[in-house]
Amino acid sequence: MAEFQFACNVRDLRVMQTLKQNLSSGTTRARHDQEEERVCRGLRLEFDGRAIVIFMVGDKDLFAMDQKCYHAGGPLNQGDIEDIDGRLCVRCPWHLHQIALDSGESLYYSVDVRNPRGMKTLCSKGVKQRLHEVRRIGDKLFVQLCLSGEKVDSDYYYSEEFYRQMKC
Ligand code: FES
Repeated sequence: MAEFQFACNVRDLRVMQTLKQNLSSGTTRARHDQEEERVCRGLRLEFDGRAIVIFMVGDKDLFAMDQKCYHAGGPLNQGDIEDIDGRLCVRCPWHLHQIALDSGESLYYSVDVRNPRGMKTLCSKGVKQRLHEVRRIGDKLFVQLCLSGEKVDSDYYYSEEFYRQMKC
């Protein structure tokens, strides 16, 4: 397994947006007085030829994942961070797929076609985006690429097959 490598200083992260998040349930549907505003920051970096993105939500919650979206290679560092039923997700700017920051799952709402006005259910397509480890020590961030285990869909954009096809 790869070692932790210095990634950047916290101040190098780019401010992306402010996320309104409910303190009690984590949803964005709460009354205003229950909401907390958290600054979302992100940065695209490369390690050993692999582009990754680090996200920091508020001062503590850190995530790292492949920067190229599993669906068609979209730039996740340009996505929006959203709270979807209490799950922090990045919404890809290309086709708006939602990827959970803590698991790499692609999430979607399913609708009962017999009752389209009924409750929507949050569902998972499974883990699609590869996550990496990120740690904060003081004002510095360190990343460890996690490339072992089962393949996930985002691996394709870092594969020889993909680079071969790009040359054709
Ligand atoms: S490339 Fe990300 S949703 Fe299509």
